[in-house]
Amino acid sequence: MQKLEVLGPNKLRGIIDVSGSKNASLPILAATLLSNKKVYLKNLPKVKDIETMINLLKSLGSKIQINKKKFIINNYYQNKKFASYNLVKTMRAGILVLGPLLAKFGIAKVSLPGGCAIGSRPVDIHLEALSKLGVKYEIKQGYVHAYAPRGLIGCKIKFSKISVGATENLIIASTFAKGTTILSNCAIEPEIEDLVNFLIKMGCNLSWIAKRKIKIIGVNQTRETNYSVMFDRIEAGTYLVAAATTEGKLKIRNVIPKVIKTEIDVLKKIGAQIKTKKNEINIIGKKNIKNINLKTSPYPGFPTDLQAQIMVLLCKANKKSIIKEDIFENRFMHVAELNRMGAKISIDGNKAIIEGNTKFAAAELMATDLRASVSLVLAALSTKGKSIINRIYHLDRGYENLEKKLKKVGAKIKRLN
Ligand code: UD1
Repeated sequence: MQKLEVLGPNKLRGIIDVSGSKNASLPILAATLLSNKKVYLKNLPKVKDIETMINLLKSLGSKIQINKKKFIINNYYQNKKFASYNLVKTMRAGILVLGPLLAKFGIAKVSLPGGCAIGSRPVDIHLEALSKLGVKYEIKQGYVHAYAPRGLIGCKIKFSKISVGATENLIIASTFAKGTTILSNCAIEPEIEDLVNFLIKMGCNLSWIAKRKIKIIGVNQTRETNYSVMFDRIEAGTYLVAAATTEGKLKIRNVIPKVIKTEIDVLKKIGAQIKTKKNEINIIGKKNIKNINLKTSPYPGFPTDLQAQIMVLLCKANKKSIIKEDIFENRFMHVAELNRMGAKISIDGNKAIIEGNTKFAAAELMATDLRASVSLVLAALSTKGKSIINRIYHLDRGYENLEKKLKKVGAKIKRLN
């Protein structure tokens, strides 16, 4: 099993180009199933989850070619309605093919998903909402068997809880439903905005009518589409925290700073010096880090996907900080590993109490989920000595060329086989 070796401390200096967004690419790839015209996609990140989604689409009959950096997706002959456990087990976003398959064929069998070990992560909100569109379903042997006897029929749906995946699945399904669908209490993450923009470009009829409310008028065909996926805001945030933790100086390019205003404001409060331009962010990490209390919440709140990374930085703050995790119930798997490096973090329900003034010590560590893994890399980068991070396949699910990008800005990091 591959490991990462980090020889710290490293002060990161230089330029990092942010890749395309994994979490925007996944629903957009699923949505291509709706189309029988060619779709050309640019800026998909080279990460394992995208490879898994491409394999899932291929297993459903999609023809996919890569020409230079463009993905050409042809679903003209796509006719399979079965998404197997083998492909969905490692990636929760596999459930996103359910909406488009039902929209297109009125029937689908999709494995219940796997994904990160950060909570039970059910799909009840997806299924409850799909049933309002006319879908009947049964769960048998780990699979959702779903069919829409009269096709999907537009209606008003209010999500019982804000869910990124359920909003995406329902937006995609509703684009082909008969009549008008109004979805309210939607997630409004930038990746959802990107999906909506993609669908509009493909000829679908969607418009936001209030902050968390979208109106979708069903269409029955799409057109050939060229689309470039948005930047990865979590990757951008991770490198901003990397600069702040290592007292580094980084220029982060290929971003839209206003999309991550919340994260930038938090980092400024903690003491980082940040200047933004149209498509870049310049950050200088300071020695004195101020404590802060924060909670994760749906966009535009602070993202749960950056909670582990910011915790590393807060370990070095002058005083105690508290992070409240309001999205996932079990997303503190990194805490035990950070404590092994010398942090003093205690957990009280969904709160992490971080004592601050930590001088990390190098250690051998175990990665547990995608964002927890990268938080260990960040801690190791700023720590004197050799740290080893095991089980890094989690990192490969979501970070394109992590070691290469970090090496370019001065990190002493290498992959061991
Ligand atoms: C997406 C992101 C993930 C991010 C999360 C929250 C992708 C591929 N993944 O995950 O990186 O951390 O949003 O921003 O985009 N829930 C239910 N029932 C459901 C669906 C969700 O109870 O049917 C709960 C979840 O367990 C969780 C909360 O709702 O506690 C939010 O989950 P959701 O927004 O759906 O996250 P994902 O779409 O899985």
